Amino acid sequence: MQNKNVLLGVSGGIAAYKACALTSKLTQQGANVKVMMTKSATEFVSPLTFQALSRNPVYTDTFDEKDVEKIAHIDLADWADIFIIAPATANIIGKIANGIADDMITTTILATKAAVYIAPAMNVNMYEHPAVIKNMQTLTDFGYFFIEPGAGYLACGWIGKGRLEEPSTIIDVIKSHQNSPRLLAGKKVLISAGPTRERLDPVRFFTNYSTGKMGYKLAEVAAEMGAEVTLVSGPVNLDVLSSSIKRIDVITAEDMYEAMTKEFSTHDIVIKAAAVADYRPKVTYEEKMKKQDGFLQVEMERTKDILKTLGEVKTKQFLVGFAAETQNPKEYGLDKLKRKNLDAIVINNVAQEGAGFGSDTNIVTYLNKRMDEHEIPKATKKEVAREILRLILHDMKDEQA
Ligand code: CTP
Repeated sequence: MQNKNVLLGVSGGIAAYKACALTSKLTQQGANVKVMMTKSATEFVSPLTFQALSRNPVYTDTFDEKDVEKIAHIDLADWADIFIIAPATANIIGKIANGIADDMITTTILATKAAVYIAPAMNVNMYEHPAVIKNMQTLTDFGYFFIEPGAGYLACGWIGKGRLEEPSTIIDVIKSHQNSPRLLAGKKVLISAGPTRERLDPVRFFTNYSTGKMGYKLAEVAAEMGAEVTLVSGPVNLDVLSSSIKRIDVITAEDMYEAMTKEFSTHDIVIKAAAVADYRPKVTYEEKMKKQDGFLQVEMERTKDILKTLGEVKTKQFLVGFAAETQNPKEYGLDKLKRKNLDAIVINNVAQEGAGFGSDTNIVTYLNKRMDEHEIPKATKKEVAREILRLILHDMKDEQA
């Protein structure tokens, strides 16, 4: 953020108070921050607060020209490297989507060539209203980047999605986005993540330790690199941070098979980071099973191998699998790469400390079908994701050459 010119547009929601912390954090990180507020935002926080935190004048009125030599909204639009709207209300999102320019923020945004980031905050039902969804899609199509709100307790009393993302997360997402060259622009990436659940009866299921973190980080980084991402997700406790990620929720290996085979043909890169159950109970019970004396034997049957199916039907797609191994990782990984007709495999020795399920870090080996091998040493899953995508792009270029 050092020396970056950041315009912060604050619109009128209770989360405007969080924009104060955002201003403070941005200035602490070396950014030059200028704040604009809508009239309604000034009902929540005084412009003086932002003036003190940013050490710059605050703009609330398009006609309040502070310097006769300049037209403020054009001057600010040209000055900005980054334009953040936080919080963005349903109203301002709707206005921008329709090209309405009736206040300082909406007028300036039409004139800017800066990278635009929008962090919405509103009631969960407003956030899910088709009009808001449509407007957000329009803004995504303009090339604006959304920092999705978090879920939790909302000021209006509802619990759900709509809470302005924390200021530190907003800054992290923007920094990461700024640092990711848009190498995947124009590419469609399909990623599977998380575990699957195989039902036994209404209260029991078989699953595994996957938390989905690696797959979600791959989706996040691919979106930051400009890709249009489809994320097929098993049941996990994670949110997607970007509106360039279309998430499809699934439960069972069969659901995941349906979703992946349906989406496959329209994507360029397909990464199967999910930990899919290899077996499911042969019989599932409609009523809860009652305990009995002695052993319980559950007969299990194989699920479909999704990756293998994709390997069989693949045409132009660059297909990447994951192998979670506890012994002989390279030998087993290589065997999977060949058996499933993959272009590359990411081998994960889950027995190592700092690797595998649930951890925030990972240690992997990336192996392509030409047997080039790259060790990615212990790093955060986000950094590992960036390196994996970089290697995929490198291999795709090599194949085209
Ligand atoms: N996979 C899949 N469908 C399954 C099982 C696995 O698509 N039914 C995918 C995973 O998403 C992963 C890769 O296959 O990308 C490797 O998963 P793993 O279970 O380790 O591979 P298997 O071939 O099942 O080998 P094994 O169980 O013998 O280790």
